[in-house]
Amino acid sequence: MTLTNKKPFIAGNWKLNKTVSEAIELISSLKEACQSITEAEIVAIPPFTALHSVASLIEDSPIALGAQNLFWEDNGAFTGEVSASMLTEVGCSYVVIGHSERRQYFGETNESVNKKIQSALSNGLSPIFCMGETLEEKESGKTREKVESQILEGLVGIESEDSKKIIFAYEPIWAIGTGLTASPHEAEDVHNFIRNILAENYGNDLSSCAIILYGGSVKPDNTFSLLSEKDINGALVGGASLKADSFAEIIKEGIRAYKEK
Ligand code: PGA
Repeated sequence: MTLTNKKPFIAGNWKLNKTVSEAIELISSLKEACQSITEAEIVAIPPFTALHSVASLIEDSPIALGAQNLFWEDNGAFTGEVSASMLTEVGCSYVVIGHSERRQYFGETNESVNKKIQSALSNGLSPIFCMGETLEEKESGKTREKVESQILEGLVGIESEDSKKIIFAYEPIWAIGTGLTASPHEAEDVHNFIRNILAENYGNDLSSCAIILYGGSVKPDNTFSLLSEKDINGALVGGASLKADSFAEIIKEGIRAYKEK
């Protein structure tokens, strides 16, 4: 799979929402709304239990499948965990890694995030690697420091070729599910910083083609201004991805922003 930032990348993270029957309903409406869209990469990220049903419904559509997490071991006595190879077999191309909710509620660290990224890559999955600062860190001027350490520690040991298969997602924690969004200017500043870190550590090859998503209260009415920014290549959408019409609107607004940049 070749990743490109020449079109907007719009991913819907359903989090802990949607039973199998609800997931089928949502993906069916979304499929109808997205049938003819070719100018965006669209990803649905349902909970584990709905992956199989969603996979079978999106086969002939422009929608790709992602999972919300994985465990780095392939198999064994790890009750409750799911491995990368299980995700590829069910039809996933992407997997979210290091989401702030996993770091906050499930004790994930940069070190475990790194192991998960390595496992995803070695099984042919593209990680959607999340990073972002708390409100306290933002207010004390530590955003860059935090994001830089998350990137560098998350990418330890990852070869330059593999780094091209990673999607980066900047998600300021204070903007997730709160209705607060970073202003396009604020978000662009951090996205540009992330691109520069990638350039310094992996060269211009990666940094110029890297997909850097913004996440945190993305809605149809703020998508255009965010994705019009030079270094914002798409969105990781939570709440607004749970309704087909708002998610489809976000995709359309992303395409419109890309056409005008
Ligand atoms: P939100 O979530 O759009 O509901 O703020 C974004 C995310 O956590 O990925």
